[in-house]
Formats: sequence, C-alpha cells, structure tokens
Amino acid sequence: AIDIKNLRAATGMITLDPGYKNTGSCESAITYLDGEQGILRYRGYSIEDLADKANFLEVSYLLVFGELPTQDQLINFENDIRKYTLIHEEMKDIIDGFPKSAHPMGILASLTSALTAFNPRPVNVSSEKEIYNAVCKTLAKFLVLATWVHRKREGYPLSYYDNTKGYVENFLHLMFAIPTEPYKENPIIVDALHKLFILHADHEQNCSTSTVRIVGSSHAGLFASISSGVSALWGPLHGGANQAVIEMLEAIKNDGGDVEKYILKAKDKDDPFRLMGFGHRVYKNFDPRARIIKKAADEVLDALGIDDPVLDIAKKLEKVALEDEYFKSRNLYPNVDFYSGIIYRALGIPSEMFTVMFAIGRLPGWIAQWIEMRSGGEPIGRPRQIYVGENLRSFVPVDKR
Ligand code: ACO
Repeated sequence: AIDIKNLRAATGMITLDPGYKNTGSCESAITYLDGEQGILRYRGYSIEDLADKANFLEVSYLLVFGELPTQDQLINFENDIRKYTLIHEEMKDIIDGFPKSAHPMGILASLTSALTAFNPRPVNVSSEKEIYNAVCKTLAKFLVLATWVHRKREGYPLSYYDNTKGYVENFLHLMFAIPTEPYKENPIIVDALHKLFILHADHEQNCSTSTVRIVGSSHAGLFASISSGVSALWGPLHGGANQAVIEMLEAIKNDGGDVEKYILKAKDKDDPFRLMGFGHRVYKNFDPRARIIKKAADEVLDALGIDDPVLDIAKKLEKVALEDEYFKSRNLYPNVDFYSGIIYRALGIPSEMFTVMFAIGRLPGWIAQWIEMRSGGEPIGRPRQIYVGENLRSFVPVDKR
C-alpha cells in the first residue's frame, strides 16, 4: 500500500484530467466497482447479495465499520441510533426561516450544516467510541431532518422518531403519518426502500463523496462535510437526476406522449436535451443497481396497483431507447435513477424530495469515506491546474481604461 503521509506532490509536471475521469484521488477499502463488467461490492460483498439479504442499517454498519454486524451489534446499533433522534428545539426556528418554496436539498444542506452549531466539538478520530457515537448521531439526526423538510413543505406538524419501529419504517411514519391519519406500513414498500437505500449507500469516488472527502481533508467537521456532499448531490447530473427523470416524463406526457420525438431530441447534437436517467460515467455496459431496482419497481407498482400515464411513458421510453442504435452504440442504459424516481413517485413522494431520498441512502457511504479519509491521515485535497490566462500585464489606472 502507498504510504500517503510520505507522498510528496510532484513538481514540474501536472496531469490534466478534467472531470478526473482517469485520476485516482485516494486508496479506499470500502467499495469495489468495475464499470466494464457491471460489478459493485461493498467491503467485498456483492450488491446483489446485500440488496437481497441485508437491511439498510446492517449495510450502513458494514460500510462504516468494515464488517457485517453480529446480531447483538446490530441491535445495539439500532438502539444507539435511537438515542440521538431528538432534534434541538431551536432547529425548528431555522426550519421556519425557509420559504415554503425552497428546494428540499437546499434546506437539507443548510440544516445539516446547522447541526455543527449544536455540536461544535470536533470528533476525535482516534477515539473508536467518539467515532461510533458520531456515526449513530449523524444517521439519526439526518433521517429526522430529511423528513422534517418534507413536513415543513406540506405544512404538517413536525413529528418524532418512534422507538418501537425500525429505521426505514420510521422514515415512512416520519414522512407521512399525520395525527388524523396514521400511516399503514406495506411490507413490499418497506422492502423496496431498504433495497433503494442499500443500492445508493456508496459508490466510491462519485462527485458528492469526493466532495465530502475533500472538504473533510481540511479537517472540517463531519456535519459540515456531509452538508457539502448534499450540495454536490443536488445537481441534475448526479443525484438530481432522479427528480429530472420524472420531470422529463411529465413533460413528455404533457406534450402529447410522443416518446420518439424525445428520443430524436436526445440524439440531436445541436439540442442540449439528454435522456435523464440514461448513461453513467463508470458503468459503460449496465448499472447492476438498475437491474435490482427495476425488479423492485415492478413489484411496488404491482402491489399498489398503480395506473399512471407517466409510468407508462417510462416503460415506452426504456423500450425504444434500448432498441435504438444511438443508445446501443454508446452503451447508454437506464441507470439506477431512472427506476428509483418511478418507485418514489408510486409511494407518493413529491419529485422535489427524490434527491433527499438519495441523500438518506448515500449518508452511510459519506460517513464511511470521511472516517477512512481522516483515520488514514490523508493530506489536504488540493488539485493543481494548467494556467491558460494572460501573461504579465501592466496595471492601468481606472481613469485610463
Ligand atoms: N442522452 C443522450 N445522449 C447521451 C446521454 C443521455 N442521457 N448520456 C450520454 N450521452 C451521449 C453523449 O452525448 C456522448 O455522445 P457523443 O459520443 O456522440 O459525444 C456519449 O453519450 C458519451 O457521453 P458523456 O457525456 O461523455 O458521458 P459522461 O460519462 O461524461 O456522462 C452522464 C455521464 C453525466 C451520467 C451522462 O450520461 C448524462 O448526462 N446522463 C443523464 C443524467 C443522468 O441520468 N445522471 C445520473 C447519473 S447516475 C447517478 O448520479 C447515480
């Protein structure tokens, strides 16, 4: 293994790699990804096995601590998370300060950052106990705050974690239960959500995770680093794609449902339009997560007996694009976000909350990567550049310009 602490920045020669398409920024033992073969593993376990057999907190534990928890460790982990689910009452004032129209990801990034104000002491990364508590605290508070963003927008009273229920069940109750109408859990939905969160839980050095690592590399705190990850995830080329998928499907429906017309638009190089939910930076053959979630999407739609013209358009689009030479020759397949948006819509989650769903799933990955980066003693992230600006110029006073 490379001794990171003794690495010296090379001087004299700089590699230019816009978008870091071929640049490794770190060594990591968390996620293995082979984009050509469509392989994704967390800590050596295949994503297919984990999505099928594990629950979300089990996978969170695995990502962060490196091993699957024993039964006792898992029970303790769930209990320890419960201890931190109360949110400081003054956080409600901050939530109230946002206009109702604010985008949920903007609110969530701000609230996550605001947690720093209520937890000002930095985590001592050489203390296992402090790290463990910080992991539980972050998983607990982020989930509640994410659902409060939704409640605030809906005008619902803010509600509290129910210690008799699991983490994913709590997500559903925190989102949807109102005093006059308790939420009825459907096991198929709970199972699909576990899968969705697991599939999103880590994806090596994607844009938001690299952001969390680079912000944390300046020794900024965990909440501040996670908050920057939320902001990076917000963009439509990353986590924002799941919202963009449904908005695109709605636009096609409102425009008469002509799928072929939009396929032509996506292929037209003079048109900036892209088929949202198609293509991936690293999966150039297929996205293994998409296969798993397509099955879950079918199960959820069947179980809920949903008849939605927008979802019909999704199916048509998928079929036409998969048979089209342009998409085939560029290996552009539906990615995980094409299907995740479909499930979220079927569950009644508003499209503006879709990227928040992604963030809840990605949180354990961000935490695991932050801890790995800090405990590995990585140096501060500081890329170089190739300067292409002006040569030395003489200053001209303002009255002479
Ligand atoms: N629709 C139409 N054409 C596309 C699409 C698309 N969705 N995606 C890529 N292409 C084309 C490009 O125009 C390019 O064509 P060319 O070779 O003729 O110039 C070729 O396919 C390669 O595309 P790149 O942009 O070079 O691929 P890159 O790896 O840089 O981008 C990305 C990947 C950003 C995901 C891209 O496919 C895209 O914009 N997809 C839509 C947005 C989306 O779904 N994002 C979610 C990503 S998954 C996630 O974050 C979990």
